Amino acid sequence: FQEIPYIDSENETKQERRLPNALVVGVRKGGTRAVLDFLSRHPSVKACPREVHFFDQQENYKRGLDWYREQMPLSFPNEITIEKSPAYYVTDSVPKKVFEMSPSTKLLVVVRDPAIRAISDYAQIFDNNKGALKQSFESYITEDPEHRLLRKRSPLITIGMYANHLNKWLQYFPREQVHFISGEELIRNPANEMKSVEVFLGLKPFINERLFYYNSTKGFLCLTPVTPNRSGCLSDTKGRPHPSVDEGVFTLLRDFYRPLNEKFYTATGRDFGWN
Ligand code: A3P
Repeated sequence: FQEIPYIDSENETKQERRLPNALVVGVRKGGTRAVLDFLSRHPSVKACPREVHFFDQQENYKRGLDWYREQMPLSFPNEITIEKSPAYYVTDSVPKKVFEMSPSTKLLVVVRDPAIRAISDYAQIFDNNKGALKQSFESYITEDPEHRLLRKRSPLITIGMYANHLNKWLQYFPREQVHFISGEELIRNPANEMKSVEVFLGLKPFINERLFYYNSTKGFLCLTPVTPNRSGCLSDTKGRPHPSVDEGVFTLLRDFYRPLNEKFYTATGRDFGWN
């Protein structure tokens, strides 16, 4: 006869490092850190605190899935492991690689008005360059001295072409496996926006309004602190002041994105209200 294997109940509930079941794939400056931090409060979620850049950086991808698994936090089998690297959404080679890891990976994308996203991205680049970046936003995003022609190949612009990127993911994943989060709603009403994330991930309802309080110094809703002397707010690099932008250049951006935004609303079935 065939011996029935003995299952050690202790072993069954062992914490292990597991490959992610869900990924926050983008977009840069959409509100990706906020989503990960808010989700981390859920008792059934184990979030990888750092951006691993496994699928978008070849030197990491070459290290293999075992290496990737090692970067993940410990979890029980019934918990969800989640990683976020905002470059995944816009990197052409990534959807296939994620599919090869697991075709059932759930994908989360935080999107924000692409014109505002571009300004936020510039503000980050400006800060990171610590005074070395002399160009204004207007010169950075256009290619002529009159600022009438957008630099359409600049990542500052291409990242916001959400519908085009989505098509690449839909070659591998069904639409229902991608969930879009409104970056604007995430700021206004995080509990509500996160409740639909819970539903999408099949999590028990946990996140609600009581998890947040308005921090007037930060100017944002922050998580109710669990550790004394911690504000529960995101770091100073989240919620930076934006430069004021020339109206003509802003209109140029708006006009450029409008048809792409419309396509995106149709593809996702949600009007994000950016036009
Ligand atoms: P700004 O710095 O332009 O305001 P990411 O984490 O993907 O880089 O996104 C950063 C953006 O998250 C910030 O952009 C900010 O608007 C947004 N955000 C959303 N909720 C936030 C919160 N509760 N606290 C701070 N920033 C938040």
